[in-house]
Amino acid sequence: MPREGEGKSLARRTFLGIGWGAVVASILGMLAATVRFLVPNVLFEPAASFKIGKPNDYAPGSVTFIPERKIFVIRALDGSFQTLTATCPHLRCVVRWIAEERVYECPCHGSRFTDRGKVTAGPAPGPLEWYEVTLATDGRLYVNTLVQVRADYRLTV
Ligand code: FES
Repeated sequence: MPREGEGKSLARRTFLGIGWGAVVASILGMLAATVRFLVPNVLFEPAASFKIGKPNDYAPGSVTFIPERKIFVIRALDGSFQTLTATCPHLRCVVRWIAEERVYECPCHGSRFTDRGKVTAGPAPGPLEWYEVTLATDGRLYVNTLVQVRADYRLTV
């Protein structure tokens, strides 16, 4: 048989338990937010300069797309190298090489570029960018996307 006021006391204990639980949860939430605030926001971007393999990995007369770097590696028939961005200067979609027509085409809004990167159609405001490519000391090709070069720049190996 319940004693007088026992039901009331139980309800009060339940209420206090929920209240203390809410206080503890809010303190833990504030601690978590403080710890998160102390951890710096780091933007992980791909490296601006990188190696793309050995010269013999590319056949003379080829245009090779490297998707993870968004560049084209162009090896001329004389064996020289050039690297061209695959990023469209309009809204940064990735352009594709159409070998049969020898043009680059952007699938987003239809910009087209010659095999020299000059814009011939579409909303792109300018040409595709050429990047410096050099030979690293270990004999691999080294691309620096921070260094833009003219369209006639070539690495002869
Ligand atoms: S992003 Fe290439 S044409 Fe718009």
